[in-house]
Amino acid sequence: MFNKLRSKILSLKFRAIRRSVIIILASFPKDLERAIIFGDALNHLLMSTPLKYLFKFSVPKNIEVKMFNLKFSSPLISASFKDDVSSLLQWQLLGIGGITYKTVLKDPSKGNARPRIQEVSPNGRYGILNSLGLPTKGVKKFINHIDNKKLINFNRPIGISIGGNNVQDYYDVFKEIDKTLNSIAFDQFFYELNISCPNTEDGKCLSDNLEGLENLLTKMREKTIRPIFIKVSPDSSREEIIKICDILAKISSVAINLGNSKYMTAKSLGLNEKHFSKEGGGLSGETLFDNTLEMVKLVSKKYQFPIIATGGISSLSNVKEVLNAGASLVGMATLLVSDPLKIPQINQQLSQNDK
Ligand SMILES: Cc1cc2nc3c(=O)[nH]c(=O)nc-3n(C[C@H](O)[C@H](O)[C@H](O)COP(=O)(O)O)c2cc1C
Repeated sequence: MFNKLRSKILSLKFRAIRRSVIIILASFPKDLERAIIFGDALNHLLMSTPLKYLFKFSVPKNIEVKMFNLKFSSPLISASFKDDVSSLLQWQLLGIGGITYKTVLKDPSKGNARPRIQEVSPNGRYGILNSLGLPTKGVKKFINHIDNKKLINFNRPIGISIGGNNVQDYYDVFKEIDKTLNSIAFDQFFYELNISCPNTEDGKCLSDNLEGLENLLTKMREKTIRPIFIKVSPDSSREEIIKICDILAKISSVAINLGNSKYMTAKSLGLNEKHFSKEGGGLSGETLFDNTLEMVKLVSKKYQFPIIATGGISSLSNVKEVLNAGASLVGMATLLVSDPLKIPQINQQLSQNDK
């Protein structure tokens, strides 16, 4: 009862502060990234003080999900989109079952020019359009921070999302990270291959090179027993998804993550061209849900490996629908930006439904 009230009050406060920051910082000129940078700094401050315990919620025991050797305390996990420790820590305190770092590439990159991230509302439903273009500090810097005790102490799975311009890039990044992980006494790391890329410069992806994907997975499997998730795009056709699944069915300890943000032009979402530096980017948020559910049904009918449903999850009923359709875990990005206090609320509701 007390936890329910606390999460409701914190949620109201969070949304009010968030909206004010957006109105003040991200409206003139229109650029959501300025509000995000400020919000992240504010959150960093908050997470460095005892006030962070206001956000600490226990996770009901009966919603744990076991997948391979991984123990997710809840089916809700953070999708790959952030790598600042304060955000990841806040979601863990709130009760997220596992976290995934933002995709890391071999070399540092600043990504695309700004403005490259804006709020949109297709059909009146909340969403974000981003053409960040995978900004990254590069693998060398990334591995220096991977042994983060604050995050590891939660003893919940931590995903490392890998991207690249070609198969060799993916493998090089993997090798570098795997060497480091082998020196850390924590067995809850897993890999995720981001094979969809709606907003990289040349639009080329590993999902267009399935022979390369199979070779990469085979080589990775020879080197590691850690689980590997493969994250596909909602822009992939049903036939492409089936071909990817046929490859995954041959490899042990893999799971499919369905899916990523969906390519849309800025104009089609009503954005003025001055407010978006690229012609289009990846749409995330509520409108993706129907497609996510359809993809889960398609894959769960035919394949045995676990499924993570990502894209447009914004409510308890979304979570229940994808779990009932065969997903084991539920990935979330946009909801964690707009209303992270939904994590403890959904966890509690899932726990009661289970009784
Ligand atoms: C700002 C932003 C950055 C993202 N960066 C990544 C990324 O680095 N790697 C990745 O696999 N997906 C990335 N995504 C996609 C999300 O992980 C997620 O798959 C997508 O947003 C759909 O889920 P949602 O509707 O819950 O947001 C990003 C999404 C957003 C909004």
